[in-house]
Amino acid sequence: MRRLYLDNAATSWPKPDAVYDAVDDWQRRVGASYARGASAAADETRAIVDRARRSVAQLLGESDPRRVVFTNSGTDSLNLALRGLLRAGDHVVSTVCEHNAVLRPLEFLCTEGVETTWVGCDSEGVVSVDEVAAALRPETKLIAIVHASNVTGAIQPVEEVASFAKSQGVRLLVDAAQTLGRLPLDVRSLGADLIAAPGHKGLYGPLGTGVLWLAPGIEEDLRPLRLGGAASGGDRLEMPETLPDKFEAGSLNAPGLAGLAAGVEHVLATGVEAIRQRMTDARGRLASGLAAMDGVRVYGPSEPLRQAGVVSFSTEGYDPHELAMLLASVGGIECRAGLHCAPRMHAALGTARQGGLVRFSPGPGTTDSEIDAAVTAVGRLIASPLT
Ligand SMILES: Cc1ncc(COP(=O)(O)O)c(C=O)c1O
Repeated sequence: MRRLYLDNAATSWPKPDAVYDAVDDWQRRVGASYARGASAAADETRAIVDRARRSVAQLLGESDPRRVVFTNSGTDSLNLALRGLLRAGDHVVSTVCEHNAVLRPLEFLCTEGVETTWVGCDSEGVVSVDEVAAALRPETKLIAIVHASNVTGAIQPVEEVASFAKSQGVRLLVDAAQTLGRLPLDVRSLGADLIAAPGHKGLYGPLGTGVLWLAPGIEEDLRPLRLGGAASGGDRLEMPETLPDKFEAGSLNAPGLAGLAAGVEHVLATGVEAIRQRMTDARGRLASGLAAMDGVRVYGPSEPLRQAGVVSFSTEGYDPHELAMLLASVGGIECRAGLHCAPRMHAALGTARQGGLVRFSPGPGTTDSEIDAAVTAVGRLIASPLT
């Protein structure tokens, strides 16, 4: 049975061939660690990592690539941002739409004297700027908000939140896990202080890659979470203060970053607007096909400009996990059922008690015939329930 991959919100697959080639070439031909030797191979690794950093910076509209820190995942970037920045006595405003990669660090920090106010969302999973504003306190240090929900695809009003945060002197962390490489995101116009994203979703890098962008000056207030060998300052017992070395202790994931460089170059060559258009078309086709069936409810905004591209739905007669298992076994469809690591969001949508939702997440390469096959498979299962 052919695979029908609809789990790009978890990690993108397939990657462009250039990504596989770059990883393979680095592994077989280069093989030297980043900034650890003086050989030609070590120089080549440095050049590859620099290329990855430059391309991510270019994608973000950042002129200084050193402001891009490499991490191991979106979760790793968010942990560095939250646990590196917040101290006892700080207050944070965040939202019920966040992924566990934000919820859990903030719950942990609560045990260390950091308090969080959780702002709710509407029935489509959208947060109101007024509610964010109302949650602010004199001791609020940070607003942490997801750019687009991994459950409903709802794009949050991050630009408005950013200008409000700036007017109040509060820092803003944006979780761009579902949007970097898929939606235009320019640090010059956004006004955020930290942007966290995986390298393995919209940027097409391999698993094990992540990025954290830092606005000028934030690095002075941010503690590194990992300490150890870095690309500079080997004669000192403290981590270097320079970017990005302060936050990149340990041998970097050079093969992953070789793949990431190729992935981001693919995004830049294709154009984020073109990717966005294809995602909009794919999401629209999927959502309207599913919503047209009796007994199916699709969640999230239907208006394309407010949607990042996932389709989460419930069906009468099937538990989400049961439906996902059947879709995998009868149609080779790979999707994601359950709470999608966003338990507060499902509680807010009222879908937690039913076991969450089934999520289809196409990628820019998902074809119309794959989308139609997925819709047909759901239709067949609904028409003849097993029970
Ligand atoms: C909104 C959101 N934030 C954070 C993450 C965590 O990213 P990673 O899987 O790279 O750790 C995800 C992953 O699905 C996500 O969807």
